[in-house]
Amino acid sequence: MQPRTAILFLLALAAVACLWAGCVKSADPAAENNHPNRPVADSRPEETPGLPTTDDELAAEAEGIIARRACRGCHRPDDGSDTASAANLAPPLARIAERRPGDWLRRFLRYPYTIRPHQPERMPRLGLDDREVEVLARYLEWLARERISLLPAVGPAREAKPRHPRLLNARRLLVKYNCMNCHSLGKHQIRIQRDEQGNVVFQHGALQAPDLTKVWQRVRPQWLVAMIQHPPDWMPWSRMPELNVTEQDVQDLAWYLLNAEPSPATRVTAPDVEALLKDRCAGCHNVDDPARGLDLSSSSGMRRGVLDDCGGRYPAVVPFAENSPLLGRLARGDADHTLRAEDMARLREWILAGAPGLAD
Ligand code: HEC
Ligand code: HEC
Ligand code: HEC
Repeated sequence: MQPRTAILFLLALAAVACLWAGCVKSADPAAENNHPNRPVADSRPEETPGLPTTDDELAAEAEGIIARRACRGCHRPDDGSDTASAANLAPPLARIAERRPGDWLRRFLRYPYTIRPHQPERMPRLGLDDREVEVLARYLEWLARERISLLPAVGPAREAKPRHPRLLNARRLLVKYNCMNCHSLGKHQIRIQRDEQGNVVFQHGALQAPDLTKVWQRVRPQWLVAMIQHPPDWMPWSRMPELNVTEQDVQDLAWYLLNAEPSPATRVTAPDVEALLKDRCAGCHNVDDPARGLDLSSSSGMRRGVLDDCGGRYPAVVPFAENSPLLGRLARGDADHTLRAEDMARLREWILAGAPGLAD
């Protein structure tokens, strides 16, 4: 078998295994259009009973979930054993938490989005319940514990008002080190030039690497420093090369990536949103008889979210996420699922600003 065929075969196997193990939903928002309308009984326990207390129990429970969900059908082996033929597989599970903060991990497991647009594969929505998410996140952190201890003790911080001259100066480094040959960030966006026949003659930006605009939300600052010093140590499976960045430039680049994008600001508060949804939506989405298990009469109901077809749940609002199901449902709105344009804009602004005040 050709290496590429072998991978496709493995992925197909993994997909079948996932379907068999439970329900898979694509992170692709278009796939949500097929969401069936059948209401489903809530068969899952609400409470998360005592989580594993020892490392052995944690590992046993987490490996059970990983086997049932066939995570390693798509993620590279933890020991990094791999060949270039596997260039499109997802990162090794043991190497994720060294880069990602815990709250981001938990959010992503519940509701994945696209990080690497250059890869054809996407992380599927697995409909994990609260306990599975918590056990997996703790286990990923445990697997990465030794690598986390290798990170520098302090990293750059995100500042409320980063100084403009420093931003301008650091931005030049992106060009100096050719970062934008592969990535995009803010004004540096994807550029594609085609000849008259439509063939790509020049391509630049995020078609080869993640967009860095929102990278501040998903990386540990210390990891940024360590990684920019020696990319192959931290992402050996990736095409990001050794760039020989000087020590001062490493600090400035890491600081820049954390501070380039201003915090999304909003004056819209959780009570504003609650009042709006209670008024417009709680007729059908209420505690007593919630359509699709979704209670929109309170912010904790928004957090608890929607019942999926397997009796699992996914949140209606995912802080910072453009692909929050609530926005998706309203975007393809019918008469019951429409808001006035200005209310829609306020709801969107609140979610993109991190949904401040959303109940846990
Ligand atoms: C069908 C293939 C597939 C399965 C099954 C799968 N993943 Fe993924 N996962 C991916 C892909 C592809 C990505 C990279 C997504 C991107 O970059 O846009 C990913 C990304 C991730 C990330 C974020 C990685 C990062 O960049 O930091 C985490 C965490 C993760 N997966 C955990 C899991 C866990 C835990 C399971 C099992 C419960 C699982 N995945 C099952 C394909 C899969
Ligand atoms: C040859 C292409 C290339 C160049 C040049 C390059 N990168 Fe990357 N970079 C990548 C790829 C590919 C990844 C994705 C690695 C993975 O799959 O985890 C990446 C990942 C990253 C990440 C992590 C993104 C995330 O979502 O966690 C950061 C941060 C980053 N690069 C910064 C930089 C900076 C800063 C420079 C310039 C100093 C640079 N890169 C130059 C290809 C490149
Ligand atoms: C007349 C009753 C009714 C009203 C009013 C209503 N909904 Fe729904 N909603 C439903 C039903 C039934 C479903 C399940 C079928 C579907 O998705 O259309 C649903 C599904 C949903 C879903 C889950 C869909 C998915 O695929 O993730 C969300 C999110 C949602 N509604 C949000 C809202 C919001 C926000 C409002 C207020 C603007 C609202 N609904 C008003 C009846 C209603």
